[in-house]
Amino acid sequence: MHVGILTGGGDCPGLNAVIRAVVRRVERGHGGTVVGFRDGWRGVIEDDAVDLDVEACRGLLPRGGTVLGTSRIQPFGVEGGVEACRAILGARSVTALVVVGGEGTLSCARQMHDEGLPIVGVPKTIDNDIAGTDLTFGFATAVEIATEAIDRLHTTAESHDRVMVVEVMGRHAGHIAAWAGLAGGATVTLVPEEPFDIEEVCERVRRRHDRGRYASIVVVAEGAVPAAGTIELPEPELDRFGHARLGGIGNRIAAEIGSRTDFETRVTILGHVQRGGTPTAFDRVLATRLGVAAADAVAAGDFGTMSALRGGDIVQIPLEEAVSHLKTLDDDLWETVRVFFA
Ligand code: F6P
Repeated sequence: MHVGILTGGGDCPGLNAVIRAVVRRVERGHGGTVVGFRDGWRGVIEDDAVDLDVEACRGLLPRGGTVLGTSRIQPFGVEGGVEACRAILGARSVTALVVVGGEGTLSCARQMHDEGLPIVGVPKTIDNDIAGTDLTFGFATAVEIATEAIDRLHTTAESHDRVMVVEVMGRHAGHIAAWAGLAGGATVTLVPEEPFDIEEVCERVRRRHDRGRYASIVVVAEGAVPAAGTIELPEPELDRFGHARLGGIGNRIAAEIGSRTDFETRVTILGHVQRGGTPTAFDRVLATRLGVAAADAVAAGDFGTMSALRGGDIVQIPLEEAVSHLKTLDDDLWETVRVFFA
């Protein structure tokens, strides 16, 4: 068999581990070959590709980013894009395409499968918001980075008796904020799923400081939203694909806390630091398991599916299920996070 692979959407630690795993399993397990398309779907549409073998993947396991490059270009957004993909995959005799991506890339993969193309998906995103899989690789790495940052902020916050606002990624779901807030001992955590009242946030900060010389850490997901009738945020700018460019809500929250409480406040926006660099051991293992499973799914002709983690096992689920909705925070976890609010 001859397998195509692409990585689409925002990058994430562990993408190279998936590429390596697919190549290894296809070549050594199934006696096949692999071609990597550059910059996501763009590489398929424009036939920009590179042959991959085990030798070419040496050293990839711990490397962050994706050696194939990535983009948000999708065949449905390009005139003749779907036909071009069909023609290129046919001309290259590609048995099936392994599509490694988040919400946007996997939705497109599902549509392309509906168009008759043989596709197997692999979920990736630091946001951990893909349905049908317990976790996505990249998430654990992002949580480690955010937690380490919070730990460091605690000591400087305590020295100055300050309020530290830490903004983490999380566009539609607060998984990173909830986990890092819990692991880092946040005074309060703000997530997209639960609109916040800034006055209540200030009250928690006051309560924490009233108990002694206690600094506080406010963790906020970039996609957090103020409750109706409280503060208003400006409309975000859109990127060239129509996606809102988030990031910066932490500045507003810090300014509000500063003016409403009189405590000295500072803000740290972690941004893309959470997406860069080497994946944790957990993410390397998860990415590797998903890559091996995706290669096996191609060999079994199990198209229109996505490799997923379910209760410790790797299983194939319908792509349709994975893109049917976004996985938001689980109520039980959120309740546990709230137990530790001041
Ligand atoms: O989808 C993952 C994510 O990290 C989001 O949390 C964030 O809003 C987005 O990517 C930013 O992506 P970029 O700056 O690459 O457009």
